[in-house]
Amino acid sequence: MTVGMRRRAAVLISGRGSNMAALVAAARDPDYPVEFALVVSNRARAPGLALAESLGVPTAVVEHRLFKGDRAAHETAIDAALRAADVEIVCLAGYLRLLTPLLVERWAGRMLNIHPSLLPAFPGLDTHARALAAGVRLHGCTVHLVTQAMDEGPILAQAAVPVLAGDTEGALAARVLVQEHQLYPLALRLFASGQAGEAPPAEAALCNPLPPGAAVP
Ligand code: GRF
Repeated sequence: MTVGMRRRAAVLISGRGSNMAALVAAARDPDYPVEFALVVSNRARAPGLALAESLGVPTAVVEHRLFKGDRAAHETAIDAALRAADVEIVCLAGYLRLLTPLLVERWAGRMLNIHPSLLPAFPGLDTHARALAAGVRLHGCTVHLVTQAMDEGPILAQAAVPVLAGDTEGALAARVLVQEHQLYPLALRLFASGQAGEAPPAEAALCNPLPPGAAVP
């Protein structure tokens, strides 16, 4: 695939932006089917904004607080920024606002999200603490299409990690995050190269084996 055929995408963030950085890093490969035209944050103080700028990706801030609770107006402004950047695909990466039908419907089938659990287990917040409390032996992350029902859209790819004896929430989150940074670029590549709507290919499942010498609960 040539550079000229790459599909333009944006990333929506609210904070750290490590998944955004992983996506942008993947797109440095000229054969990657996506280029990143914009990073949008709903928070001016999101550390991911400076990170995006350091990676050479244009940024926009659409502060939700300035819209004083008018979610439709906030999303209309985000949508305008996405259209102005002429993007075709939107990647949510730690974007911490619930979406209304306005944005979900306008980007239906073209908006992806990464969630830190093996969906449909543990939708919503605090996924790592809930996985520990539930005593699951496998945890992980999921890239899925965004639909109005939170964390319920069609699954594009998943990565599994073991839950180890003595794990803390932080240790488990860090283990999952390593996989997130591999999975999101992989899922976007599969999606953007036209395999959406088909059964997920075998490579859409990543598995993080037990590290050597790990204590198995
Ligand atoms: C990630 O764990 C992602 O799965 C979740 O929010 C976190 C964002 O981290 N949706 P970052 O901003 O990408 O570093």
